[in-house]
Amino acid sequence: MNLGKKILPPILLAFAVTSSACAETASTSMMNDAIISNKDKPVVWFNRQPSNSETGEPDYEAITFNKHTYYVGADTEQGAALQGEMIIKYISECDSSLDRNGDGIIGYVLAIGDDGHNSSASRTRAERKACGTAVKKNDVIISDAVELNLDGSSNIVQDGHVTLEGKDYIIRELASKEMKSPDGATWNADAAAVALDEWVKQFGDDIDVIISSNDGMGLKMFDNWAHSNGVPVFGYDANGDCVAAIKDGFCGSISQRAEVQAYMTLRIIRNCLDGVDANTGIATIDEAGNVLNEADFYYADRERAFKALNLAVTEDNYQSHLDPRATYDMVSHQLDAKTHPRKKVWINIYSDKDDFLSQTYQPLLQQYAYTLNLDVTIVIGNGYDESSITSQLPNPSEYDAYAINMIKTDHAKIYMDLLSK
Ligand code: BGC
Ligand code: CA
Repeated sequence: MNLGKKILPPILLAFAVTSSACAETASTSMMNDAIISNKDKPVVWFNRQPSNSETGEPDYEAITFNKHTYYVGADTEQGAALQGEMIIKYISECDSSLDRNGDGIIGYVLAIGDDGHNSSASRTRAERKACGTAVKKNDVIISDAVELNLDGSSNIVQDGHVTLEGKDYIIRELASKEMKSPDGATWNADAAAVALDEWVKQFGDDIDVIISSNDGMGLKMFDNWAHSNGVPVFGYDANGDCVAAIKDGFCGSISQRAEVQAYMTLRIIRNCLDGVDANTGIATIDEAGNVLNEADFYYADRERAFKALNLAVTEDNYQSHLDPRATYDMVSHQLDAKTHPRKKVWINIYSDKDDFLSQTYQPLLQQYAYTLNLDVTIVIGNGYDESSITSQLPNPSEYDAYAINMIKTDHAKIYMDLLSK
C-alpha cells in the first residue's frame, strides 16, 4: 500500500494535487498581530479529547475556549472497530491449536489503557463486540475491567462463540485490567507486564490470545511471555518497534495515522496565526502544494475536531508501515518564511513513558515544525500529575500558541485558567 510518506528534509516535488473538501468546513480563523492576550491565542488539544472521563461526552467549554481552539485526534470508534475486526478475523482463521490447553475455550486477556479516556473505552467496547463477549447496560457496551472471569460468570462480559475447523469454541475474556502504575500513570507498559506475570502464574495455560489497548503494553507482554509461548498479541498505534515485531509473530496493530495527526496539530496553529481558513493545507491546497487526501481525515464541526482515519496493520501490509515517523509527503512542502514568519509554539506530551507519543508522535511534530516555520518547545509531563506539565509553562506570554496533551481528559480547565490569568 502506498501511504504517501517520505522522510524530511523535503524534496519539493512538483505534482498536481487536487484540493479536497471536508464534509463539514472548519470556520475561518482570523488572527492579527494586535491580539496579545494568552486567552485569545490558538490552542489545539491533541490525542486526549477534552471530555468527561465518566461518560466520554466532549467538553464543549474547552473546545470553544476561544475561536482559535480545536481538537486533533483520530476517529476512535472507526479505529477500534478495525482492531476488533482484525482480532476476530485472525481467530476465525486459526486451527484448533489456538486452544492451547484443549479445553474448548479460546481464552483472552485484555490490557486496558485508561478507564477515563474515550479512546480506551471505545477500544474495549469494539474488542468485546467483535469477540461476542460484550454486555450492554442502558444500550451501551460496558467497558469496565472484569478483573477475573475464569469460569465465565462475570456479568460485565459474556461468553462468545467461534467455529474452528468445524468445531464450536467458546471465546472468553478471562481477565482484564486498567494498566495503571503505582503512581497513577495510565496506559502503562510496566503495569501490563506485572499483570500478565500474575495472570500467567494463576492461569497461564488458559491464555490463548492477548489483546492490548496500545502497542506499548502489547509489546511488553509479547517480549516478556507471549512470543516464547506462541500466543498471539494484538496492539494499537503501529509504533515502529511493534510493526517490526510483526515479522516475529506480533499479530497486528492499528495505525491511527500519527503522520496525519501531528501535521494537523501544527497546521491548524499555523493557519490561525496566519489568519487564514483553518482548513488551509489540510482540506484545501496551500500555495506550497500541501494538502491531505480526503480519505485520511475529516472535520467534525460540533466537536471542532479534526480526526484522522485509521488503518489496520498486519502481516499483509506491515512492510509499508515500518517507519511510522516518516512524514506524509503531500504535506511536506516547506512554507515560505516571508509569508509564514517564524512563531513560537509551546507543546506538551503528557507522559515520558508513553511509546506512541514519545516514539511516534513527537518526532513527527518536530519534523512538521520545520516545514511550517514553527519554533516548538516540547515539554514532557510525568503521566500522573498535571502540575508536572503546567509548572513547565511559567510564562505563557512567551508563546504565540499552545498544543496541549493533558493527563486527564477532564482537566482542560487547569490549562484554560492558566491561559486566562
Ligand atoms: C494511544 C495510546 C496512548 C494514548 C495516550 C492513545 O491514542 O493509542 O498508545 O497511550 O493515546 O493518550
Ligand atoms: Ca483454551
